[in-house]
Amino acid sequence: MTKTLFICSMKRIALFASGSGSNAEKIAQYFADDADVEISLVLSNNPKAGVIERMRQLHIPVLLFDRQTFYETERITNILQKQSIDLIVLAGFMWLMPGGLVRAFPDKIINIHPALLPKFGGKGMYGHFVHEAVVANGETESGITIHYVNERYDEGAPIFQATCILSPTDTPDDVARKVQQLEHEHYPRVVASVLQP
Ligand code: GAR
Repeated sequence: MTKTLFICSMKRIALFASGSGSNAEKIAQYFADDADVEISLVLSNNPKAGVIERMRQLHIPVLLFDRQTFYETERITNILQKQSIDLIVLAGFMWLMPGGLVRAFPDKIINIHPALLPKFGGKGMYGHFVHEAVVANGETESGITIHYVNERYDEGAPIFQATCILSPTDTPDDVARKVQQLEHEHYPRVVASVLQP
């Protein structure tokens, strides 16, 4: 019997998001017309996350999971492997990635952090807490760090950083706005460059 070999160059991305999902949306829109890249699914631990509605509008499937499934079973890893996911992109995902998942996707998980790591990283440093700490510390600049993910919070190898200047009167909300602008501008492009080096 003759065998047919089908070579597929399509790259498949899985996004993880816990919150509003503005970064997930920017990434999905960036690749919407790219025949070689598919956002295969979005995974979330938060049934109230804004990302769910954003993805519904873009016709991207969302998978919700709980803490026990994530940390005590292999189900999420199995789903990602079955779907032949090439890159896992954390876009506002607040849980630590379990060791089994990190080991199953070596150098294939990336995260965005809303500060200039190694400053203002680690457990408890996420979302608005980061911007509050930056202002409390009197920083003159902040920014974004896109990095590979390992089993520790915010410690994987950095891929990209961008900086914004802060003024002494900036509130945490002001910092959040400046940082979000950088995130939306750079994250989709950096995802593309990691996908196709
Ligand atoms: C983003 O600012 C992202 O950098 C941050 O959560 C926000 C999610 O916004 N991630 C972390 O703090 C991870 N430690 P979004 O839901 O609008 O994309």
